Amino acid sequence: MGLLTDLGASREVLFVGGKGGVGKTSVAAALALTVARAGRPVLLVSTDPAHNLGHLWGRPVGPEPVELEPGLRGLEIDPAATTEEHLDAVRHTMQRLMPEHLRGEIKKHLDLAREAPGTHESAVLERLAEVVRARRADELVLVDTAPSGHTSRLIALPELMQAWTDGLLRRQERSAGFGAALRGLGGDQGERAAADVVGAPRPRDRRERRDAEIRAILDRRQSRFRMLREQLQDPARSAFVIVLAAERLPVLETVELHGQLERSGMRVGALVVNKRSPAGSGELLASRRAVEEEHLASLRSQLPDLPIVQVPLLPREVLGTEGLELLAGQLEG
Ligand SMILES: Nc1ncnc2c1ncn2[C@@H]1O[C@H](COP(=O)(O)OP(=O)(O)OP(=O)(O)O)[C@@H](O)[C@H]1O
Ligand SMILES: [Mg+2]
Repeated sequence: MGLLTDLGASREVLFVGGKGGVGKTSVAAALALTVARAGRPVLLVSTDPAHNLGHLWGRPVGPEPVELEPGLRGLEIDPAATTEEHLDAVRHTMQRLMPEHLRGEIKKHLDLAREAPGTHESAVLERLAEVVRARRADELVLVDTAPSGHTSRLIALPELMQAWTDGLLRRQERSAGFGAALRGLGGDQGERAAADVVGAPRPRDRRERRDAEIRAILDRRQSRFRMLREQLQDPARSAFVIVLAAERLPVLETVELHGQLERSGMRVGALVVNKRSPAGSGELLASRRAVEEEHLASLRSQLPDLPIVQVPLLPREVLGTEGLELLAGQLEG
């Protein structure tokens, strides 16, 4: 077995990342096909807003897994749609827990959150945590990511999210939580009046119950992120594969992405240098190949410990099962 199929056979989660157009989706899909056909079930997940799995297999792939072939399931996480769902769920919870006259405030808050940096990523990450948690026994989750910038933020996010939730929890402990803030806004008075009329529980009990419920929600979220982070930072369970072209900028960016990933505690398992110009195919490709060799040498000297898989430029674009089989045959080369 080759390097990539070894990674695919031994890890629980594999990420495939790199710049736009380098061949992430093609490589992820070809690897998924290889691993699935060798007998291990695979869930291929795309977090790229451009939605390419459906295009590759010539059939619609959506937010719920569909069987692409026996042992291989695919799903696409649409960041915008996932964010909307996520915000809807948050709105629902907040409206249930907060007094009615604050609904306008809640809506304003969530409209701002929709545009805030990191909201899409955190929604995608939360969905990804769910997908990983709900994977079938022994299933490999293979994630085809959006171009690099996004990816490393995605990986760094559990850390950030944890700091954020920790902060909220601490603040809640110190101030007896949202209840205190709401009292300032007059929530308590309204509640007390209502309680007197209908003999409902005293506001204090309601407040405590509400605080406990908010705390439980934050705790659940935090433990979901913590589990995902632990999983991603464990090199025995997860690895990252960077796909690149043998060119100057892609090499620089790969070194940078590698550094970001290592700093966020994730191990890079392999580099895939895709679309290598073939040898013995005329002068033009020969001189391109020579230039590529220089960039490869620079890559090797900057990341000496990382195994490199080279994949040749194929005569046509990678499409359908046939195209994927052709590429899969080259993945170990
Ligand atoms: N080894 C190869 N030989 C020839 N064509 C290739 C090879 N690998 C990928 N391609 C083609 O290159 C194009 C880009 O590939 P792909 O969509 O997999 O890249 P990507 O990194 O996922 O792009 P994006 O960043 O847009 O998601 C596609 O047309 C694909 O068929
Ligand atoms: Mg893609």
